[in-house]
Amino acid sequence: MKFEKNILCIGAGYVGGPTMAMIACKCPQYKITVVDIDKERIAQWNSDDLPIYEPGLDEIVKATRGRNLFFSTEIEKGIKESELIFVSVNTPTKMFGAGSGMAADLQYWEKTARQIRKFANSHKIIVEKSTLPVKTALAMERILALSENYINFDVLSNPEFLAEGTAIKDMEDPDRVLIGSRETENGIRARDKLVEIYANWVPRDRIITSNIWSSELSKLVANAFLAQRVSSINSITALCEKSGADVTEVAQAVGMDSRIGNNFLNTSVGFGGSCFKKDILNLVYLCRNYGLAEVANYWEGVVKINDYQKERFVLNMLGTMFNTLADKRICLFGFAFKANTGDTRESPAIFIAKRLVEEKAELVVSDPKALRNAKIDLKGIDRDVSYIENPYEAAAECHAIAVVTEWDLYRNLDFERIYSSMIKPAFIFDGRNILDHKGLFEIGFNVFPIGKPALTHF
Ligand code: NAD
Ligand code: UGA
Repeated sequence: MKFEKNILCIGAGYVGGPTMAMIACKCPQYKITVVDIDKERIAQWNSDDLPIYEPGLDEIVKATRGRNLFFSTEIEKGIKESELIFVSVNTPTKMFGAGSGMAADLQYWEKTARQIRKFANSHKIIVEKSTLPVKTALAMERILALSENYINFDVLSNPEFLAEGTAIKDMEDPDRVLIGSRETENGIRARDKLVEIYANWVPRDRIITSNIWSSELSKLVANAFLAQRVSSINSITALCEKSGADVTEVAQAVGMDSRIGNNFLNTSVGFGGSCFKKDILNLVYLCRNYGLAEVANYWEGVVKINDYQKERFVLNMLGTMFNTLADKRICLFGFAFKANTGDTRESPAIFIAKRLVEEKAELVVSDPKALRNAKIDLKGIDRDVSYIENPYEAAAECHAIAVVTEWDLYRNLDFERIYSSMIKPAFIFDGRNILDHKGLFEIGFNVFPIGKPALTHF
């Protein structure tokens, strides 16, 4: 079959795989190829067991793979064949040298730019899909400008706003698609070509365009604002616990103000995920680099409150369970950083598990999708950890349960049965406020929600 366009994506991760599957699904007239240096990951994308769990993803990959969606390790061929190249390689926090623990590590990004320059044999539009520090496009342009083949490139910024667990819905019906470009004739022509791709399914008024620096910066700022809301409500949970206020009531009263809105006000053990912390630290580093210490300190506070919340949860458990966790069996309900994903990157569960093991507790980790990753995350301390998917078996003979991930499954368990299998007094720490606290108390549990009065039998 002759395709209208050949599109390439470099990086077959949580972003590259699902976003390209969506474009392939909505645009059968284009051939989409996704390449990666990780051969195993590409093999998984080509198998029945995809490398990531995301509701609805299996279906669209099955419908498009081999038709107009291809996963491959042939990077050179992909670059040569395509007129438009998305780059969605990882941009983790740099863990060495200058900016260690803060700045974005751009080595994968830079290597990709050099690969494109080496193999390109005709004009290409390069689309930044990864989340990057503002002004990265300039670095990319400078590398590409040294093409020995005298090829011209246009660099666009098109940050991805999907959230894991709802990625398919987010891409199918996005709040907005943002495309930043140089405001030159060539830049605008390239931008229009990308607009045309999204316009196959996204209403035109939701595709917004901007200058390229605004686009790069908007992505960091959007994540910072989202994380800030979570830290804001989480900071108030500590005050609620001291004062007798109930954070759910406070969040409702505050969120019903239409200027504030009620989204993203769910209290938690802390936010996780591969991006919030990394992107805020990236923003903080950028501000410090530009000499904006006050702005940097303001945003750093969002991460500090998140660390405080995770530590507070562990200290609450310790204090409540008579100041010793040694040899107590504690079951974690959930390990993923949020429900409906198997992803555990930066999950608060990792911190909590490590701290509990430091206190010499024995851990049982339960999760419907994340046990494979949990085992990798806890390598080295897992002498004291068992992994049991079935929540009833996991909680049996435990002193306490801590709800870390808000999986629906945990809302509907038979807690009478769980209580009868646990060691008494039985404790439950609801790190997501998803359970029926009064009902649990009546069964016999000592119940510790977040930001609400505890219900205890002592
Ligand atoms: P990921 O680690 O899952 O995937 C990145 C992939 O890039 C890996 O498979 C890696 O092998 C590949 N790669 C690295 N260097 C390469 C090279 N030179 N050539 C070919 N492949 C290469 O990362 P991700 O979660 O998909 O995130 C990618 C980017 O998107 C990051 O900048 C992230 O901040 C951003 N982002 C992520 C999400 C999310 O939900 N995970 C959402 C929005 C934006
Ligand atoms: C987030 C953003 O929502 C996406 O727009 C963005 O594209 C993505 O980061 C990214 O750049 O990687 P994601 O991390 O997948 O998406 O998931 P979120 O739903 O934002 O949740 C992040 C964390 O905050 C989770 O640990 C979640 O449990 C926590 N959270 C979220 C709360 O504790 N309370 C809330 O009210 C909402």
